[in-house]
Parts: sequence; structure tokens; C-alpha cells
Amino acid sequence: MAVSVAREHWSSRFAFLMAAIGSAVGLGNIWRFPFITGENGGGAFILIYVFTTTVIALPILIAEIMLGRMGGQSPIQSMMLIVRKHKKSVLWVVLAWGGTLGAFVILSYYSVIGGWALKYTLLAVTDSFANLDPAASGTLFGNFTADPVSLIGWHTAFMAINVGIVVWGLHKGIERAVVFLMPLLFLLLIGMVVYAVSTPGFDQAVDFLFTVDFSKVTSNTFLVAIGQGFFSVSVALGSMMTYGAYLDEDINIPKSAVIIVIADTSVALLAGLAIFPLVFSFALEPSAGPGLIFVTVPIAFAQMEAGYLVGTMFFILLSVAAVTSAISLLEPAVAYIEEAFVLSRRTTAILVGTACWMVGIATAFSFNDWSSFYPLASSGVLVDKTIFDVLDFVATSWVQPGVGILMAVFVGWALSQETVAEALNVDDPTALWFRFWTFLIRVVCPLAVLFVFAGAVWPELVASLMPSSGG
Ligand code: PFF
Repeated sequence: MAVSVAREHWSSRFAFLMAAIGSAVGLGNIWRFPFITGENGGGAFILIYVFTTTVIALPILIAEIMLGRMGGQSPIQSMMLIVRKHKKSVLWVVLAWGGTLGAFVILSYYSVIGGWALKYTLLAVTDSFANLDPAASGTLFGNFTADPVSLIGWHTAFMAINVGIVVWGLHKGIERAVVFLMPLLFLLLIGMVVYAVSTPGFDQAVDFLFTVDFSKVTSNTFLVAIGQGFFSVSVALGSMMTYGAYLDEDINIPKSAVIIVIADTSVALLAGLAIFPLVFSFALEPSAGPGLIFVTVPIAFAQMEAGYLVGTMFFILLSVAAVTSAISLLEPAVAYIEEAFVLSRRTTAILVGTACWMVGIATAFSFNDWSSFYPLASSGVLVDKTIFDVLDFVATSWVQPGVGILMAVFVGWALSQETVAEALNVDDPTALWFRFWTFLIRVVCPLAVLFVFAGAVWPELVASLMPSSGG
């Protein structure tokens, strides 16, 4: 039986916001968002992304931070305390278990990709992109990912950095890291965008990102947008719940959540504005997929005048973003193990980090020796997916929406409105924003997430329901 642990609190609202924005802003914004936007047609995708993130991910984020603050412990222990206090079924704790395990699984492969960012930072610093042509860039990336030893080495370095930060605890570790790293990240990003404005491809990039062409929208666009919004805002995995547990009572959660989502979305858009001008200036392919920033963008760095500086800035930016997200993925499990086994933070962080590192090795092998090993090949589902693909798919397409729906239903229906109003310090529960949020959390979020599930399980059915499908 877990025990409650005396928890430190954020030393200021700024510290909380930097940590939460640090969690939200990550590989999802700088690596995933640009290539997903590229693959899904640009402007129309961005519009749908902003809309679904505002009406689905944001309301759940408010609910999640609120649950964290109500419990004041790790997600699992917090939910235990909440269901006991409000006399709800203990089965609701499954949402916290799902989130904590989901975060653990995501961290296992996030750390491998984070390792790529570290490796590419080193390549940029040592001027290895000079004279790189498209073929050489593909070979560079191909050779790197083909070597499991190298991938595991960088994965180890990335995980060690995270464990190192989490070992130091809330004030000396997480807070000190994010308060320094997040402003650095913003400065680097602004520097990149300022540079991008001066390149010949900037206008084309703006057209690509902001011209809305609805003929490119299908049901899949909505599914991808909702999934990307969940991942990018870090919702429904217990990370934000854990950060909420360290939050003082007087901090306004809805306002903070709005700031987090605006910052996260702005960074994604700015990342697009930093990357696509380079892609267009050097006549590269915007829909290059996951290799966009590791294969395509280095070619631009090789050809541009300030390539050494811009390339180095870019990969430092990516590494910083990845680290501040990864620490929030490690924290929920660490906080729980501390409570469950009454262990020191140092021991716990090392134990959980090592376990997660071991799971990550399977991902490192998924890009080379095990690239044709499909663990579920005989099961009839996910038949052509590597271990990495399966982990990613299960965590982001099943666990995250599943936990999201449970959070929405628990806060919207299981807890009383008075309880929720009190937890959010709402003086007037008839206030328009509160009624609107309640409606979103009760009706819109569960239905939208069900739609995401249906899309994952019966893609053809969902596609046929959309008037513009096939467009
Ligand atoms: N939001 C992070 C990103 O965009 O890269 C990833 C992430 C962190 C997802 C923490 C979920 C989470 F709980």
C-alpha cells in the first residue's frame, strides 16, 4: 500500500508554467508537427489542429492538472485519495495506472529519438553537415540508425541526462533545468525564425502553412489532428497530473492551461516557420515524413551561408525540447515508486530510468536488426509494425485517448459539480466559461475521443461517415 509523501511545491507560477510548457513542447512540436503538417497538406491541417486542440485537449488538460492538485501525490496515489474521499469506485484509479504506464512506455522510445537529437547536435557542432548532398544526408542518417550500438549509446546518454535531473528533485532538478532551458529554447527558436524570414523560401512556406485548402481534408485529418494535439499538449499520461500535484492552491488552473496550450501551439507553428522556409529555399520535399528534420533539413544547413550556426542552434533547440518533455514522462512513475516502496528519490529515479532504458533497447533495434520483426504479426492486429511502432501505436492511439476519456468522464460526470468548482476555485459555477468547459468535458471530449478510437479500429467506417472523405 502506497503512503503519501510530503511533496515540495513549485516555487512560483512561472516555474510551474516553464515546467508544464517544457513538458508540452518537445519532439512532438519540432520533429512530429512539421512532418505531419507536411504529410497532411499544410494550412487545412493546421486549422483543424488548432480547433481540436482547443476544444478537446485543452479542457482535458484543465481536468488533469486539477486532479493532480486535488490529490497532491503521484497520479496513482492521488486518484486513490480522491476516490476514497469522494466515495467513488476504486476502478477509477485505472486511469492513473494507464497514464503512468503509458508515460513509461513513451519515454522508452522517446529517449531513443532524443538520442538522435543529441547525436545530431554533435554532428552540427563538428561541422559534419558541410558539403552534404541529399544522397549523403540519407546515407548519414541511414548508417546511424542502422547501427544499434550507436543508437543505444545515444539513448543511454539521453536517459542519463533525464535521470540526472529527476534525481535532484523538484526544486534543484526539474525547476532549475526548465527555468534555464525554456527561455533558451524560445530564444533559439526566435533566432531560427528570424533567419528563415530572410531566406527566399519564406513566402512559399507561409503559403504552405497558412493557405487553407479543404479539399485535402479527410476523416483521417481529424484523427491525426486530435492525436497530435493530445501528444503535443502532454495530456492524459499523468505528467501534467504530477506537475499539478506540486501546484499551490491559489494558482488559477484554467488560465495556466490556456497559457500552456497557446505556448505549445505557438512553438509548433514557429517550428514550422523555421523549418519549411529552408525546405522550400533548397527545393526539398515538404512531405518527407519522419526524416524531415534529420535528413532533409541538414541538406539546407549544408548549403546555406550561416549553416554551421543555424544547424547547431537547431539541434540544441531540439535536444532541449526533448529533455524537458522526457523529465515529465519519468516523473509520474518515479513519484509513485517513491510512495509505494518508500525509497529515496535517487534510488527510485535510477531504478525507473534503468527499467525504461531497457525497454528502449527494443526500439533501438527496431530501426536495424529487428526492422522486419513484427511482434504481433500472427495476432491479426498491427501485423506490419515493428516493436517501436507497436509501442508508439498502443501508447498514443489506445492508452492516451483511453485515459483522456476516463479523465473527462470522471471529472465531468463522476465528481459533483460543487467538488469540481471548488477544486478550480470557481466562485460562480454559473459563469459562462465554466458551463462551457463542463459541456466540453462531459459531451464533446468523450465523443471526440470515441471517434478517434473508432478511427483506429475501423478506419473505413469512419472515413465513410465524412462527407469529404477521399478528397
Ligand atoms: N508533449 C511532448 C512532445 O510534444 O514531444 C511529449 C509528451 C510529454 C507527451 C509528456 C506526453 C507527456 F505526458
